Amino acid sequence: MDERIERIHTAADYVREQIGGATPLVGIVLGSGLGKLADMIEDPIVIPYKTVPGFPVSTAVGHKGNYIFGKLGGKQVLAMQGRFHYYEGYPMDLVTISIRVMKLLGVQYLFVSNAAGGTNPDFKVGDLMIIKDHINLLPNPLIGPNMDEFGPRFPDMTCAYDQNLIAKAEEVADSMGIKLQKGVYFGSTGPTYETPAEVRFFTLVGADAVGMSTVPEVIVARHCGITVFGMSCITNISNKDTVAKVLNDGDDVVMQANAAADRMSEIFKQIIASL
Ligand code: HPA
Repeated sequence: MDERIERIHTAADYVREQIGGATPLVGIVLGSGLGKLADMIEDPIVIPYKTVPGFPVSTAVGHKGNYIFGKLGGKQVLAMQGRFHYYEGYPMDLVTISIRVMKLLGVQYLFVSNAAGGTNPDFKVGDLMIIKDHINLLPNPLIGPNMDEFGPRFPDMTCAYDQNLIAKAEEVADSMGIKLQKGVYFGSTGPTYETPAEVRFFTLVGADAVGMSTVPEVIVARHCGITVFGMSCITNISNKDTVAKVLNDGDDVVMQANAAADRMSEIFKQIIASL
C-alpha cells in the first residue's frame, strides 16, 4: 500500500478509537488565535496531535495542537485546535493529513478559519470575511501519485466554497447584527509577510485577503468530496507602500484573531446547528 495512505489509515484508526467509534459530521480547522471555539464544544475529548501516530507536531504561534471531539450546535464535530503549515517544513501530504483522517471518520462538512491580512481597501482590522473563492500560490497538495481512494486525478474546483453555506452564514450574521465581508483568499507560502509590491499584485489579480494556510486543506477536502465553508479573520491591513505605519507582527495577528474569535465561533455554531 502507498505509505501515505497507510499513515492516514493508522492515524484515523487511532482517533476513531479515542472518540468511541463516533462519526463526526463536521470537521473544523481553527486558525491562529481562533482556538477559543474549542471551549464551546460540549463533552470534549481532547486528542493531542503528538499522541496520534504519524502526525506532525504543530509549531506555529497561536496554535495548540489538539483534535477536540464533542458536540457543537447539537452536532458531533471534530475540531483542530491548530493546524499544520507548509512553512513549518512539512510535505503537503502531512500538512493535510488531518483532513483525510476526518474523511475516513465520516466528516461531511469542513469549516476552515484563518487569520489573514486585508488587501481590500474597504476592510478593517477585526472584520470577518466569508471566503467565496481562493487563489493558490502554494504548491498544490494533490501533486504526486493520485490517492484514488480519496478522489479523482483532476478534481473540479468551480464550487470550492459551498454556496448554500455562504448564504446560511450571511443569514446567521444578519440575525446577529454582524456585518460580514466576502472575498477571495490568496494563499501564499509565508513565513514572510508580503512586500508592498506583492500586496499590490495580489490586489490587482483579485485578492481581498492574504494568508499562509487554508488552501491546501480546502483542496484536499474538495478532492475527497467534503463540503467546505471558510472564514478569514482580518488581523492586519496589508501594507501597499513602503512607508509602513504599522509593521506586521505574529503576536499582533494572534491578539486580533483572539478578539474576533467569539463572533466567528458563534457564527460557526449557528451554521452547524442548521445542518
Ligand atoms: N499575510 C499573510 N498571512 C497572514 C497575514 C498577512 O498579512 N496576517 C495574518 N496571516
